[in-house]
Amino acid sequence: MAVERTLSIIKPNAVAKNAIGAILSRFEQAGLRIVAARMLHLSREQATAFYAVHRERPFFAELVEFMTSGPVTVQVLEGEGAIALHREVMGATDPAKAAPGTIRADFADSLTENAVHGSDSAETAAAEIAFFFPEGVCERTR
Ligand code: PPS
Repeated sequence: MAVERTLSIIKPNAVAKNAIGAILSRFEQAGLRIVAARMLHLSREQATAFYAVHRERPFFAELVEFMTSGPVTVQVLEGEGAIALHREVMGATDPAKAAPGTIRADFADSLTENAVHGSDSAETAAAEIAFFFPEGVCERTR
């Protein structure tokens, strides 16, 4: 399997729960390596641009409101099949459908406040990584 990089966000509700370390540990325990990380409070402009693909959806305003409600951490995770592996560890978008033991089953509060975000394809991962790390990410991290 190819080594990939994916963009991960720990959302405001999980940061408020003091669960950053617990969630990052789950990524590491799954074999994913953190190769870049930063904490920031998204502006309305940043959240709107990041979620532009969803701008026509009925939940868009609520999503932007939530994502700007407090700080988030954004990290780049690396590993074999990292995009799918990350999504497996996160669990289903809707926490009511997330498998037991997944991050969303344990830390999400609702479909909107679902604790974490992960890129859904190689193309999206490249765009999302460039969005948050325009200066680039280290080529070699070990
Ligand atoms: S979809 O419905 O297949 O487009 O959903 P998905 O691409 O997995 O994720 C949509 C993101 O919007 C957030 N969100 C909601 N989705 C569906 N319904 C409602 N009501 C809703 N509210 C917010 C959802 O958490 C996804 O966020 P990310 O950060 O991409 O995981």
